[in-house]
Amino acid sequence: MTASTDTLRNMYLDLMQDILTNEIYKDPPLKMSIGSKLKKAVGLNARHQQGREFDESRREKGLDWPSVAHTMIGKQRMQNLRMVCSDVIENNVPGDFVETGVWRGGACIYMRAILRAYGDTDRTVWVADSFAGLPEPDAATYAKDKGDTHHKVEALAVSKEQVMDNFRVYGLLDDQVKFLKGWFKDTLPAAPIENVAVLRLDGDMYESTMDGLTSLYQKVSPGGYVIVDDYHAVPACAAAVHDYLNAHAADETIEIKEIDGTGVYWQRP
Ligand SMILES: C[S@@+](CC[C@H](N)C(=O)[O-])C[C@H]1O[C@@H](n2cnc3c(N)ncnc32)[C@H](O)[C@@H]1O
Repeated sequence: MTASTDTLRNMYLDLMQDILTNEIYKDPPLKMSIGSKLKKAVGLNARHQQGREFDESRREKGLDWPSVAHTMIGKQRMQNLRMVCSDVIENNVPGDFVETGVWRGGACIYMRAILRAYGDTDRTVWVADSFAGLPEPDAATYAKDKGDTHHKVEALAVSKEQVMDNFRVYGLLDDQVKFLKGWFKDTLPAAPIENVAVLRLDGDMYESTMDGLTSLYQKVSPGGYVIVDDYHAVPACAAAVHDYLNAHAADETIEIKEIDGTGVYWQRP
């Protein structure tokens, strides 16, 4: 007797999720030597744990920054990512998978694993990041980023080589993974991405969210998905979403859905 393809696929993707969020070895949150003002400014508010112990309920909702795990988005946002990626594959919605803001790469690694699990050899996973942390705020252009201090957080700067190594250890670094290194405003406008089935925005700031939407939103296929990781964590991020949609998609009927109290997503009509 052999297990069905569905069973084996689910077993692989469940295990990948548990490893990428490190619910296996249960690493404690990252120790950060930043003051309470900076923590607040980067969205590490009272809901986030910066204690010493692994806390399953916080990892579930992506409310800690892990010391070891390859993603900080937590279990529920990983489940959401799997749900939308599976949906577009099963329903033949054309387009690539893109994440803008990847940190250690865990969410992108999961997207590549999902393609592998479905035997999808046509789509690319685009991995867009400065690989050097966030930009200093350009408050003259984006007033809502005034005072943003994410750029001071060294823990958010992970090199491209490190992210490539992280793909490699899962056997998932191949030519279906493409890297866009640099500030979004420089890399995204000319990126050779034709169409997008899943766009995952995780750049925290107004500018970073707006740059992702400006370059890529119109490439999202009908039936494709947009996920905004920081919608409830960073008010400027939500403001960028609404400013963009009001200006460029006012005629679309969009239903923004909750994921876990922090992230949101919607499907393009
Ligand atoms: C919160 S982390 C992303 C978390 C990640 N998605 C995960 O699965 O854990 C934010 C990332 O966005 C990147 N970033 C933010 N704004 C950017 C910009 N304007 N250009 C390039 N990279 C940016 C940072 O370098 C950082 O790696």
